[in-house]
Amino acid sequence: MHFIDLKAQYERIRDPLNARIQKVLEHGQYVLGPETVELERRLAEFVGAKHCIAASSGTDTLLIAMMALDIGAGDEVITSPFTFIATGEMIALAGAKPVFVDIDRRTYNIDPAKIEEAITPKTKAIMPVSLYGQCADFDAINAVARKHRLPVIEDAAQSFGAYYKGKASCAVSEIGSTSFFPSKPLGAYGDGGALFTNDDQLAKLMAEIRVHGQDRRYHHPRLGINGRLDTLQAAILLAKMDIFEEEIAARARIGARYSAMISDAFNNVSDERQQVTTPVIAADCTSVYAQYTVEVADRPKVEQQMKSRGIPTAVHYPVPLHLQPVFADLEQGKGSFPMSEAAAERVISLPMHPYLTEEQQHSVVKALKESVLAK
Ligand SMILES: Cc1ncc(COP(=O)(O)O)c(C=O)c1O
Repeated sequence: MHFIDLKAQYERIRDPLNARIQKVLEHGQYVLGPETVELERRLAEFVGAKHCIAASSGTDTLLIAMMALDIGAGDEVITSPFTFIATGEMIALAGAKPVFVDIDRRTYNIDPAKIEEAITPKTKAIMPVSLYGQCADFDAINAVARKHRLPVIEDAAQSFGAYYKGKASCAVSEIGSTSFFPSKPLGAYGDGGALFTNDDQLAKLMAEIRVHGQDRRYHHPRLGINGRLDTLQAAILLAKMDIFEEEIAARARIGARYSAMISDAFNNVSDERQQVTTPVIAADCTSVYAQYTVEVADRPKVEQQMKSRGIPTAVHYPVPLHLQPVFADLEQGKGSFPMSEAAAERVISLPMHPYLTEEQQHSVVKALKESVLAK
């Protein structure tokens, strides 16, 4: 069994995908070619945002967004410590200080009630992460941000295709930033990412920063990076967009089925240490289940037991950012963010992709039960 089965998807779209790739090889505009422009139009329409800027990765998009907002030395950006390293890393690389705010223990996303106390005169933006495929609570986050006149950048690397109260992820704040890393809900066959905004000026700045801060050929009013998207990746993403809505529906179905199967399997288990917590999807929200992540009391045992039964698992993420050696100078030791630390100790992700069959899910849940109950 695969943790993510990209081959099943490839087999489904082989012919149109190969045709799209062939077309790029024939026209030869390999970087920011016509497919990139077509993809930007298609993605903007999908998300319901005025502008889309396709870029080289979901890491570079975070940096580009902050550069466009002029965030740098002496500034602070509020984010969650329970995320992939890129979120905090890009804040620091932009020259600013990541200011962590603990998560809501149920959704794993930043706790909006704790944001205001972290705001200082140096705060320049709030960067919530929409973890595991579900948007953070943007109504509450945007309300705090508006009060303090702060822009909000959604790190939507894991949530592309999800909806928050009827709005698509990436269209719920000033800037949405996503990733097309191969294992993401919408994945390329290499690195890729995209930025979304309704703000004309920000869109112009981000597009320029993506190409070395250039406003016209070889003229550079500001610093930028090489943050462009390859045309081949755009062509691949266009082919995948044709089946994306169906895949989103399949993800929702498979996620819900896992939760029902797990509740069923552990229904008559009374020992609290042998319980499994399934994901909580907030009201009026959907998840694309970039990861289907549960919590167990004794994770090392469950990991080892699952492995011995041939079921791949992963941990997203074992160490919260404030405890990463690279952020030691922030001097926020163990105990600083108890919700994130507790989650980091207990979470474990199960195989998840739109082509997982009911039978395969039964095998995973059977193995999970045996693993949790094992001595
Ligand atoms: C929450 C989060 N932010 C940022 C990134 C970075 O995206 P990329 O790998 O495309 O650079 C990822 C990807 O793993 C992610 O999960």
